[in-house]
Amino acid sequence: MERNWWKESVVYQIYPRSFNDSNGDGIGDIPGIIEKLDYLKYLGIDVIWLSPVYQSPNDDNGYDISHYDQIMEDFGTMEDWEHLLAEVHNRGMKLIMDLVVNHTSDEHGWFQEAKKSKDNKYREYYIWRSGKEDGKEPNNWGATFGGSAWEYNEETEDYYLHLFSPKQPDLNWENPELREEIYTMMRKWLDRGIDGFRMDVINFISKTPGLPDAPKEEDETYASGGQFFMNGPRIHEFLQEMNEKALKGYDVMTVGEMPGVDVEEAKKYTDLNRNELQMVFQFEHMDLDSGPGGKFDLKPLDLRDLKKSISRWQTGLNGIGWNSLYLNNHDQPRVVSRFGDDKNYHDESAKMLGTFLHMLQGTPYIYQGEEIGMTNIKFDSIEDYRDIETINYYNEQVYEKGRDKNEVMESIYVKGRDNARTPVQWDDSPHAGFTTGEPWIKVNDNYETINAEKALQDEESIFHYYRKLIQLRKEHDVIVYGDYELLLPEDEKVFAYKRRLDDDILFVLTNFSDETVEVNVPENIEINQPELLIGNYKGEKQFNSKTTLQPYEARVYKGKHRDGSGSPVL
Ligand code: NOJ
Repeated sequence: MERNWWKESVVYQIYPRSFNDSNGDGIGDIPGIIEKLDYLKYLGIDVIWLSPVYQSPNDDNGYDISHYDQIMEDFGTMEDWEHLLAEVHNRGMKLIMDLVVNHTSDEHGWFQEAKKSKDNKYREYYIWRSGKEDGKEPNNWGATFGGSAWEYNEETEDYYLHLFSPKQPDLNWENPELREEIYTMMRKWLDRGIDGFRMDVINFISKTPGLPDAPKEEDETYASGGQFFMNGPRIHEFLQEMNEKALKGYDVMTVGEMPGVDVEEAKKYTDLNRNELQMVFQFEHMDLDSGPGGKFDLKPLDLRDLKKSISRWQTGLNGIGWNSLYLNNHDQPRVVSRFGDDKNYHDESAKMLGTFLHMLQGTPYIYQGEEIGMTNIKFDSIEDYRDIETINYYNEQVYEKGRDKNEVMESIYVKGRDNARTPVQWDDSPHAGFTTGEPWIKVNDNYETINAEKALQDEESIFHYYRKLIQLRKEHDVIVYGDYELLLPEDEKVFAYKRRLDDDILFVLTNFSDETVEVNVPENIEINQPELLIGNYKGEKQFNSKTTLQPYEARVYKGKHRDGSGSPVL
């Protein structure tokens, strides 16, 4: 397998609004990030992915960009950003930027022009259609943040498409002029010296011509329409063109966020011979605890489903493309609250989940606060929530559908995006040391017990455990490049897998339950001289063919393949 720096890297995602505020206005900013670079270096990460810092009216916290070449005032200036890049590079780390080009803000200059008249120069930068004969929206697609995906524009007496909020009009990638503008903009950032891009919903940019109505359930007002814009007809062509015209010649990493991508499609996106992307963010494992009604339709995770899904991706991309590995980001609830137990086994389950993820084949992504085990929040009132998706969902369910408020809040507590967006808990001072002012969103009440300062001082903390996980990846090639094999597929509590690179074998055992469980180690583990590399419970952990795992226990053994050197143990 080809070796690449981005396969050997660990990425850390910063959501700037909530990371660290340097000037007391209650909003995280770029100088605040610079203050914490030594902390990140100490953690051991290689690459920082910065969620959008461009000028934006913040309808969707920066994922609605009004100027691609300016920094949002709340976050600082272009000089601050340049300083950040230099300081990241000085410490031997890399910086990748968020590229949001499926849509802009409606306050972007292009859209401000485009909406003026049908013969405006920028009209074809966006997607316009006349209403149906009865004047209704051009098709039945719904927007991700609720309502129709179409918004009426008075001036031109027709509709524009927005797959997200009405303040996020979709760009028209069919227009070669628009594509050239995007590539020019990308090259400008690349020439500033960045190390790559995370590409927002990049598999949405090619829409099926004709934008047909999509099938929908009778009780639904709108259809999702996903089959007509996810992985659309020209997507591979567009990405290859982007590669040719923008990325080629730069030694950078690219990861495309891709809702609705499956393994077969991901092979095409990430096969380096095809010159598209290096990795995709897929969502299969993040959808396993949702029912047919979507993310807020709660369903418990069945570990066997997670095994099937992860294994399909691990084996599917092996030797062809490359996986990105994540359990958290700014759109997902905190994983320790989701798949762990943030009450009774907080540290144990956070460490177990980290172990499970970091020992897989792929590039791991850590989301800010994950390394100290930050948890979900429960604000009593919807007034305290800031996320457009959450607020729209609440209003729609409570005021349009008449559902019980408490029931709706239950779903928001489990799945709302603000779970991930509360300020990073730096210490136990007011507002967790995030700001000296009033934070834009409330801090989680548990900051006195869960915070970075405390974690740094405690050698047994989740933080230090993550440091070790990251370090192990640097020391053992089998963790990065080894093949993957699932063990114990039917076990409902233990996720066990094996990695192999030449003679090296890695054996990963993780208990996803709050029970003590007996494990019979399968014969095909074929390991000699196994040594414990890391574990989240104290004490000597001799390798045995029968072993007992404590609640949320994780252990990783490394040894030699039986046919290789060493005396047999099993
Ligand atoms: C995906 C981003 O991660 C999310 O935060 C955003 O709301 C949508 N794309 C729209 O840009």
